[in-house]
Amino acid sequence: MADKNKKIKEDDIAKGYGNFVQFLKKEMIRVSLQRPTEFNVEEIKLILLFDNTQKMGYSKKFLECEKIEKVYGNLVFGETPADRALTYACFVMSIDGKIAFEDSHLGPLIARTNFLDPSGAKADYWILNMLRGISDGIIIGGGTLSEHPDYTGTIFDIDIVNARIKAGMPIAPWTIIVSNSGRRIPYKNRVFTDKEVPILINTSPEGFKNLEKEIIHPYFVIDHSDLSTVRKQVEDNKEKIAVLVTGTDSSSDGEILFKVLKAMGVEKVLVESPSYVHYLMGKGLLDEIFINTSAIFVGGKCASIGWNNEPFTSTNHPHAEVVSIHIHKANFIYTRYKLIYGIINKS
Ligand SMILES: NC(=O)c1ccc[n+]([C@@H]2O[C@H](COP(=O)([O-])OP(=O)(O)OC[C@H]3O[C@@H](n4cnc5c(N)ncnc54)[C@H](OP(=O)(O)O)[C@@H]3O)[C@@H](O)[C@H]2O)c1
Repeated sequence: MADKNKKIKEDDIAKGYGNFVQFLKKEMIRVSLQRPTEFNVEEIKLILLFDNTQKMGYSKKFLECEKIEKVYGNLVFGETPADRALTYACFVMSIDGKIAFEDSHLGPLIARTNFLDPSGAKADYWILNMLRGISDGIIIGGGTLSEHPDYTGTIFDIDIVNARIKAGMPIAPWTIIVSNSGRRIPYKNRVFTDKEVPILINTSPEGFKNLEKEIIHPYFVIDHSDLSTVRKQVEDNKEKIAVLVTGTDSSSDGEILFKVLKAMGVEKVLVESPSYVHYLMGKGLLDEIFINTSAIFVGGKCASIGWNNEPFTSTNHPHAEVVSIHIHKANFIYTRYKLIYGIINKS
């Protein structure tokens, strides 16, 4: 570990990333008390059971990274949309589809309490890190941010961070917070106090009135009337939180968000908010979902994806095609789906 840190420090200084690496080291020490920050290939290596990528015409690799090849294999994607960012989500759930327990709402517990396979739990967390690593932005909801005061969208695998640096990608993806209400965004959370990560908040017109009253950090509002100016606006305000106001009344508009992100150069976005994922599926805007199944049973009425959203109906709901299936021991299955919209029963 010491050697790896020394190596990354040297690489980064050469590229002017010194400050961020110091931040990353601090984060790794802090987080390693609760979450893994060292990922040994042999321990988390996944067995590929099914691979549909070739048949689906997938060939785009977003990041050249030996570690990803060794643990996961060939991580390729299909065509990216022309006018908006590509979107994919990642969640761990129990075999009954729960993403949290009733007695403790922390999502990662669904993996970590699988006492039969701690390494499989590590592999689940590593997949999230892999997807953060290939992304330009990470979407998080106010709910998860409140449940996890320590949340930062940091990539904790140093080999993946190194691959990003080598590829000339920004070392940290954007953290994008979605909030219709603009209320009770936990501005004292770590994600706001660690200045190294760029932050964008997308809210509604009504939400913006609340946000203005509560925000405690310098911010600027993106004018998205002319998308060709967006990138420069962001560059000119690097030290501030970017605020994007979209939609009408108290509803923000995800479609505009993803157009603005594309205009900012944010092409690939990982969505970590369960309710926002449900909203995106309703709009046909979620391209893929990675579901890691931890072979435990939770039961009861606790959280599933979109548990508070208006459910889809038996006649109109998103479908999906399996992209790939991996397994770790006999206790975790890691499934990747491509969403398909507009499938209606004609019989
Ligand atoms: N197992 C896992 O992989 C996993 C992963 C992540 C989270 N979790 C768990 O899931 C639970 C949180 O889930 P959640 O669904 O309640 O919270 P969430 O998605 O993290 O956050 C909900 C908030 O996001 C904002 N939001 C949602 N949809 C929106 C939309 N269409 N437009 C704008 N803003 C929108 C709203 O903020 P406003 O109210 O301010 O409008 C809403 O209150 C926690 O227990 C967490 O630990 C589990």
